[in-house]
Amino acid sequence: MAAVVLSTVFVLLAALVSKTGAWSVSCSNPYSQCYGQLQTCPANCAQWCEVDCTTCNVQCACDKPGAVCQDPRFIGGDGVMFYFHGEKDKDFCIVSDPALHINAHFIGKRGSGMTRDFTWVQSLGIMFGSRTLYIGAQTVGTWDNHVDALSLSFDGQPLLLPPRVNATLEFPDAGLQIVRVEGKNAVTVEVKGSFKLEAHVVPITKQESRIHNYDITAENCFAHLELNFQFFNLSTEVNGILGQTYVPGYKSPVKVGVPMPIMGGDESYVSSALFQTDCAVSKFGATPSGQTIRQAASASCGNARSGGLVCRR
Ligand SMILES: *[C@@H]1O[C@H](CO)[C@@H](O)[C@H](O)[C@H]1NC(C)=O
Ligand SMILES: *[C@@H]1O[C@H](CO)[C@@H](O)[C@H](O)[C@H]1NC(C)=O
Repeated sequence: MAAVVLSTVFVLLAALVSKTGAWSVSCSNPYSQCYGQLQTCPANCAQWCEVDCTTCNVQCACDKPGAVCQDPRFIGGDGVMFYFHGEKDKDFCIVSDPALHINAHFIGKRGSGMTRDFTWVQSLGIMFGSRTLYIGAQTVGTWDNHVDALSLSFDGQPLLLPPRVNATLEFPDAGLQIVRVEGKNAVTVEVKGSFKLEAHVVPITKQESRIHNYDITAENCFAHLELNFQFFNLSTEVNGILGQTYVPGYKSPVKVGVPMPIMGGDESYVSSALFQTDCAVSKFGATPSGQTIRQAASASCGNARSGGLVCRR
């Protein structure tokens, strides 16, 4: 299983910052034709991109399957992009499977004259077996790149991870490994045989606030998480906003190709708290059927003419 996964995932070997502030990345699979060749991240994701070792294209981590970014914009396991607005200050199950449950806590604000909240993912409550892992962005007034705004705790105990690249925490009995991919505000979290994610803490910038009318003030820059997930052991019963999109043959209810396809059905996904597994679609703790989903092959995504995002396998 692991070998299959490794050959298909996007791999990042080296990240170097160029004069323009954009990062350079390369493929770390020695069997790829672009092995070790540095490529610069595109402007819209200058700090977080990856090379697809199969196609040798550079891709924004927020534009590939498993992404949960912005206000939250998902790319499903089926390659379909959609928004899920939810509601601020509530928790929603994004993945629910017999052995893994992930809730996301939404923060946000109601713009003047709006009928819904602008929302972002502030933290994750991850449950696997009897273990609980928290990954969150701290509340920040004015954003400062030099300050770490990431919070982690495992089984309720706060974790300290030195602020330097490659600083690592390991919990072998849980199969858990956490590694900083940048000195601050970016980590990978892996539970062996279950999932891997990369999380970046980012603020809402003045520019974004202006473009989208978020009306962000100096008291709160709404620091939040941008995420990309890979799953290695989902069952065919998996549900949750993101989880369901990995089921083979899943038919997305969202309108594909429009600029803002929306996933509705908030009531099905709301959990009563970050570490509760009581959303209506919950599968956590259910008897597994024994059917595991093979990791989907990588998809390449690009902007459709309609303004939406389209991914192809
Ligand atoms: C971090 O680890 C990677 C992979 O092992 C290595 O290539 C890189 O040089 C390390 N970076 C630092 C700053 O130690
Ligand atoms: C994989 O999933 C099965 C069924 O959901 C579960 O029993 C098993 O513990 C999982 N393995 C890991 C490593 O999470």
